[in-house]
Amino acid sequence: MKQMSNFELEAMIAELEKRRHKVELGGGLERQKKQHQQGKLTARERIAELLDDGSFLELSTFTEHVGGLLMREIDAPGEGVVTGSGTIHGRRVYVFSQDFTVLGGSLGKRNAQKITKVMDLAAKTGCPVIGLNDSAGARIQEGVDSLSGYGEIFYRNAIYSGCVPQISAILGPCAGGAVYSPAMTDFVLMTEGTSYMFITGPEVIKSVTRENVSFEDLGGAEVHMKKSGVAHQSGKNDRDTLQMVKTLLDYLPQNAREKPPVKATRDPRNRDTSKLKEIIDPSPKKPYSMIEVIREIVDDHFFFEIQPDFARNILTGFVHLGGQPVGIVANNPRFMAGTLNIDASDKAARFIRTCDCFNVPILTLVDVTGFLPGVQQEHAGIIRHGAKMLYAYAEATVPKITLITRKAYGGAYLAMNSRDMGADLVFALPTAAVAVMGAEGAANIVYRKDIQQSPNPEATRAEKIKTYKEAFDNPYVAAARGYIDEVIMMEDTRRILIEGFSMLAQKEESRPYKKHGNIPL
Ligand code: HXC
Repeated sequence: MKQMSNFELEAMIAELEKRRHKVELGGGLERQKKQHQQGKLTARERIAELLDDGSFLELSTFTEHVGGLLMREIDAPGEGVVTGSGTIHGRRVYVFSQDFTVLGGSLGKRNAQKITKVMDLAAKTGCPVIGLNDSAGARIQEGVDSLSGYGEIFYRNAIYSGCVPQISAILGPCAGGAVYSPAMTDFVLMTEGTSYMFITGPEVIKSVTRENVSFEDLGGAEVHMKKSGVAHQSGKNDRDTLQMVKTLLDYLPQNAREKPPVKATRDPRNRDTSKLKEIIDPSPKKPYSMIEVIREIVDDHFFFEIQPDFARNILTGFVHLGGQPVGIVANNPRFMAGTLNIDASDKAARFIRTCDCFNVPILTLVDVTGFLPGVQQEHAGIIRHGAKMLYAYAEATVPKITLITRKAYGGAYLAMNSRDMGADLVFALPTAAVAVMGAEGAANIVYRKDIQQSPNPEATRAEKIKTYKEAFDNPYVAAARGYIDEVIMMEDTRRILIEGFSMLAQKEESRPYKKHGNIPL
């Protein structure tokens, strides 16, 4: 066999380096400069920012586009996306990072196949997959091939949903098909000011509906955080958003077969939480900060909120309790008196299901007077949407603890993970009250005749309200009937919740055979 000369070997190595360098340049220095001028990082800088130093192993570097009539003259280094695997705080993840400098990060057939290759590897090996999205949507020049590429990705987003965590960071203008893949993942994080998500852009909208709208007002981070509920969190810039992706991973396991990682904490398990006495106003009409309640209870007072600006009448997010990741669902008495409406039901149901797929126990904090009454809510389908929440709680088999902080009335009491809907443990503070409705409303209905026929209706009304309050406006009736497991002191709350989740740590619960449930959508 002929020996290879050093010269030949060097030429081969030089060829590899030349090719790799070309791909690494993406769409070239000019377009990279534009990316920086817009305040964005490049696809490769984002990967470097996200992963542990030196951990990235790139795959499919030399992929070329699929060709076709309109692509003949076009060069697309790396096919417009950087893909591979690396680690975050030592945990393996798979990643793809769309390169806007190459044909606007548009998605062609082979570009899609680079992405599906890492999605398949992530699913086979049981690791999270993180998409860094910055794409102009379907690559127009490739026609049906690019649509097919999206199909391949959407299909995997669906079949791997609930198997491994899928996280999407939106870091540029994501248009058309580029938004539907993120929408099918578990979490969508956006960057303020430089990222947009829309199905059709401002120009198409103008030509069809004659509406004038800016990119920001149509699909910027603020819109998707506050109005549409599409985004779960937003960062001030790319680095901030990528940092949030890492924080999010702290609460998630590698896959659905594992439990989320326990995090060491110096916060004592039995830390006194008597500050709750100052935070929770016992008068049922006075709002207080449920976020402060949460922070008082949890490790290091840190609450990583999910969808903080959408449906603010309910709070969702992650915490650690004694090192154990826990998902929180809590009424927010500061906003719409914490009533449940359509958006709140959707927000909570989605979060409960996310926790359940990834074995994150759920803590529910209850202070709720009911579902929001009104024609608008009824006609927009509060029945259908509220049902999602009931369904999601009942369906979830993770450890579920409920803490009633104050009011728990009517249907909303049931919807907030009551005993009968599947709570494993129900605790109540002394300020709690479980009833069909508030004392005033109840007295007016139940004792209407007595009040009407009384020589002094107001005095009778006051007396009947007092009677009803004594009967129901406290935690003891529910505790006497076993709907509440224990009424606890404010100062013991943290210790007891940690103890409760520790009791439930090995919980196993099976369900009757089914292909899959049919949650109302
Ligand atoms: C191929 C594209 C492209 C596309 C942009 N480019 N969109 N190439 N296919 N869809 C190219 C541009 O020609 C340009 O190339 C480079 O990307 C950057 O684009 P610019 O327009 O200069 O950038 P910018 O001004 O920042 O605007 C970004 C943008 C805009 C808002 C995303 O490009 C845009 O509106 N593009 C079209 C979006 C769209 O309608 N996509 C198709 C959706 S339909 P050069 O060489 O100059 O750098 C779809 C169907 C799938 O996705 C549906 C599945 C459900």
